[in-house]
Amino acid sequence: MTNLNVSLAERSYTIHISKGALKEAPLNEKISSKKAALVTDENVWRLHGPAINSRLKSLGIEYSLHCFPAGEQSKSLGSLNRLYSELFAAGMQRSDTILAFGGGVIGDLAGFAAATYMRGIPFIQIPTTLLSLVDSSVGGKTAVNLPNGKNIVGSFYQPAMVIADTLFLETLPEREFKAGMGEVIKYAAIEGGELLDELQTSEAVANSHANIEQIIYLCCKSKAGFVERDERDTSVRMFLNFGHTFGHAIEEYYSYEKYSHGEAVAIGCILAARAGELAGITAPGTLQIIEGMMQKAGLSYSFAATVADIAPLMLADKKNSGSEISLVLLKKIGEPMAYKIGQKALEALFAEDQL
Ligand code: GLY
Repeated sequence: MTNLNVSLAERSYTIHISKGALKEAPLNEKISSKKAALVTDENVWRLHGPAINSRLKSLGIEYSLHCFPAGEQSKSLGSLNRLYSELFAAGMQRSDTILAFGGGVIGDLAGFAAATYMRGIPFIQIPTTLLSLVDSSVGGKTAVNLPNGKNIVGSFYQPAMVIADTLFLETLPEREFKAGMGEVIKYAAIEGGELLDELQTSEAVANSHANIEQIIYLCCKSKAGFVERDERDTSVRMFLNFGHTFGHAIEEYYSYEKYSHGEAVAIGCILAARAGELAGITAPGTLQIIEGMMQKAGLSYSFAATVADIAPLMLADKKNSGSEISLVLLKKIGEPMAYKIGQKALEALFAEDQL
């Protein structure tokens, strides 16, 4: 098992990464009261309920089960309200622990409940999708959606431990695995180095499950580095949003139906690299490197909309301040930078360019 420390003074924690981490990680050390609330979704519970049940039983940990429908609709104030009531009815107290067992939706919902129930109780992330293994389970962003926007109500609240067990990936649908690779390739673009080499030289991208533990380790190491320098997302942590301003707008343009988050981020990384090259900021050839990795991962899309279609949505992104669009561009692979551009100027950049 590989252990990676996220160093945040008294909020520091370890990410335990291995095939079988659920059985190996010292879960009991973080649940001293031996009482937990297990928050999950119906799919994860059906597939992996027996594994977590036997692990908790073997450690003598009592738990209540809080199972939500799978999907984004569970990341709502309604679900949160239900969860608070159930936690109270189960007698959860401040010394007890919430286990977030699922993908990003469950991690965000359970994490925000943990941040706020009785003014904050410990929680452990046990991610089950590639996207949540490499991104949302690490760094302490927790939130629910409002009808008028995603992640509008939330907090920064770090988990007490992350258990990154790659065994769960074996039941992940191929489309979801590939979408997670979109986020992995984003890390390779902003980080370069060993992760880029790994994705370019090994069969890891083409043969999805090869070397995935090392890939998850390198993504989490990159993310931990940004989070340690900027826990509350006011400076360098924003570089993790490479491809996301385009990506969020693409998701929204298609009413969250055509592309999943990871797929939209994959397109967004390509558009951000193209924007950078068109603006003369990004080293020529960078787009080709990113496109090459995306193609190997099966993430090439013919995208029918244009930047002019999505630019108004990019301007409305809640991360913007003022009348300009905030982008993360690359000077080259491994060197992200913040860049502001007006909507018209962005449209003009792409005017002659067919997506
Ligand atoms: N997903 C980006 C971040 O955690 O900052």
